[in-house]
Parts: sequence; C-alpha cells; structure tokens
Amino acid sequence: MPHKVSLSRLKLTDFRNYAAAALALDGRHAVLTGDNGAGKTNLMEAVSLLSPGRGLRRAAYGDITRVGAAGGFSIFAALDGMEGDVEIGTGIETGEETTARRLRINGTTAKTADELTDHLRLLWLTPAMDGLFTGASSDRRRFLDRLVLSLDPAHGRRASDFERAMRSRNKLLDEGRFDPSWLAGIEEQMASLGIAMALARQEMLGLLTRLIEETRETSPFPSASLQLSGFIDGQFSRPSVDLEDDYAAMLAESRYRDAGAGRTLEGPHRADLIVHHREKAMEAERCSTGEQKALLVGLVLAHARLVGNLTGHAPILLLDEIAAHLDEGRRAALFDLIDGLGGQAFMTGTDRAMFSALGDRAQFFTVADGRVFE
Ligand SMILES: Nc1ncnc2c1ncn2[C@@H]1O[C@H](COP(=O)(O)OP(=O)(O)OP(=O)(O)O)[C@@H](O)[C@H]1O
Ligand SMILES: [Mg+2]
Repeated sequence: MPHKVSLSRLKLTDFRNYAAAALALDGRHAVLTGDNGAGKTNLMEAVSLLSPGRGLRRAAYGDITRVGAAGGFSIFAALDGMEGDVEIGTGIETGEETTARRLRINGTTAKTADELTDHLRLLWLTPAMDGLFTGASSDRRRFLDRLVLSLDPAHGRRASDFERAMRSRNKLLDEGRFDPSWLAGIEEQMASLGIAMALARQEMLGLLTRLIEETRETSPFPSASLQLSGFIDGQFSRPSVDLEDDYAAMLAESRYRDAGAGRTLEGPHRADLIVHHREKAMEAERCSTGEQKALLVGLVLAHARLVGNLTGHAPILLLDEIAAHLDEGRRAALFDLIDGLGGQAFMTGTDRAMFSALGDRAQFFTVADGRVFE
C-alpha cells in the first residue's frame, strides 16, 4: 500500500464565497455535503490550488477573490506530505490583476509551483469534465498532460518551453523573417522538447494501459483502451534522436505553409487522446452519457493507483459529485475502490445519505453559505 498523504488543516480567506473558513481534518476521507451553491466545489478548487497551475476551474486569479473583499485571497494548508509535515500558503495580494500567485512552502517563497509536487500529487474529477470525450481535443490534451505531470513533474516545464519556442517561430514566420539559421535553432529546440513531450505521454499511457489490464477483472468500471494520435503516430518505438531529426526536418520544410496558416501545423500541440470502451469495442465519444462517466471514473482511479504505485505515495483525490447518478450498489463498490487506493479523497454531494456506505472511513462536513462545519 502506498504511503498516505493527507491534509490536516485548510484555511481560506476571501476565497470565492468564503470570507474566512477553517477545516480540521483527521486524515480520513472528507465528505462535503450541502445545497447547490453552498461552496462545495469552491472548497475543492481551493485544495486543487495546492498543485501547479490554475486549479480545477482554470480560473483567473482575480475571479477567485471573494466579491467585495478588500484585498486578494489566501489559502493555507498543513499536510502530512511526501517529505513529511509541510505547510503551504498560496494566494494573491490586494486585488491585483495577476497571472502569478504567491506560494510559500514551510515559510519560504517557492521558486516555482513545481515544488508543490515534492509534497503531494493531486488528481481531480469534476462534472465539468463529463464532456471530455466529446469535447475539444485541447481539453483531452490538457487532461493527458495532467496525467503525465502527476508522474513526471518535469513535463510541465517541457510543455511551456515548447510553447515559448513555437511562439517565437510563429512570430518570425509571421513577420516574414525567414532567417534560416535562426529558425533552425528554434526548430531544433522544438524538436527535442516536442519529441520528449510525446514520449512522456506515450510512456504514461503504456504504464496506465498495463495497470488497467491487470486490474480489469476486479474493477467495477468499464476499461478504457488509450491511444495517442495526431503526432508521430505509430513511430514511438523508433530512437528518439531519429524522431527529433524527422520533426526538425518537417518543421524546416513547412515554414512557408505554417507562415500562410499563421501557426505551426504539426507538433505535440496537435496530438489527441483517443479512448475506447474496451468491452464494447466502441469509441468513447459514441458511448452513452453514463458509460462515458463510468469510463472516466475508471480511468482517473486507475491513474491514481498508478501514481501511488510509482511514487510510493497515494495522491489526494478531489471527486466532485462523483456519487451522483449511481445506484446504491455501485456507490458502495466505488467507495471501496477509492478507499483501497490508500489516499485521502475529498468527495461532495447534496445529500449526506448518499455517502453512508463510507461509514467511519470518512469525516463528514456540512457546507452552507460559505461556512463549513463538522
Ligand atoms: N469570487 C467569488 N466571490 C463570491 N462568491 C463567489 C465567487 N465565485 C463564486 N462564488 C459563488 O460561490 C457559490 C458556491 O459555488 P460552488 O460552485 O462551490 O457551489 P456548490 O456547493 O459546489 O454547488 P453545486 O451543488 O450546485 O455544485 C456560488 O453561488 C457562486 O456564485
Ligand atoms: Mg459544485
């Protein structure tokens, strides 16, 4: 069983509809129930900001600050983390328009948000992700990259460096500055970063596929088969230096075409995650709403198990409205599965009775009008 990482305290100030709120957690799962609009998802969002990025709503930080607050917002958390006890503080100062948030770990300003991944890994599943299989490929790419990131924290840096290099190439092409050596330098950089990104995605999918295969018999959820498409398809077994050379050559050849299109047409930024419902041999996007949800839940929980196996530490799970639409038997099986992962899960719903099968494996909180109490 992987080591349990758990939140012991959470304090919010001027966060969404919370002027001030504090939670004392005892290491068990946390169930948050309350009416629509009470602040359950907001609380999940606050926890999600303990990982790099803009959290589970991908919100602009200015929107997070409570309407009517004098300053910015802050989140404080204490946890039993991957390297022992740790205190994390994050937020923004006085109502500033900002794209960066402050982050302090054990009282010291963190250099990058990536430092958070030394202490905890977070995975989430929210109702907003229900359309993942039918929606835009950019959402699936982001989902895919988050899965990679929770195993390989360097992935985020690679992706942002790639983006930056691609933007400078696009700019040169847009301005008609076809300086071959300058462009070749950028394209070489894009090739090494882009192939590394594609290989990291492929490696994660390989591991996840193997784990899904191993747990297929016992899982109450349908199993997903996973494929990457749209970039270096079917070539993953070739040496990476060859793939890099090919991609760099492809970029060099497509300068005029990309200049005409106003963007780079080939690359890891165009890849897509293709999911099939394995038992039904059906593309996920053509499955029923309930089947898609079951596939997604199965996928996220399989990934949580993978993260636990590989890092030795179970990730914290944020499962927003996960028990809705499930019958009693499936709910009980789901809770057993979640509990069996060995980590701390946060779960929400409108009705406490829905979580009764968790029994004393969870701590129950009521959320009402921006207040939370046990
Ligand atoms: N910046 C903000 N300042 C004040 N209130 C906000 C802010 N952002 C969102 N809210 C409010 O927070 C409230 C609670 O939202 P939240 O999504 O957490 O509800 P919920 O408990 O998850 O409800 P549901 O059961 O419908 O999902 C909403 O009424 C929303 O308008
Ligand atoms: Mg909600």
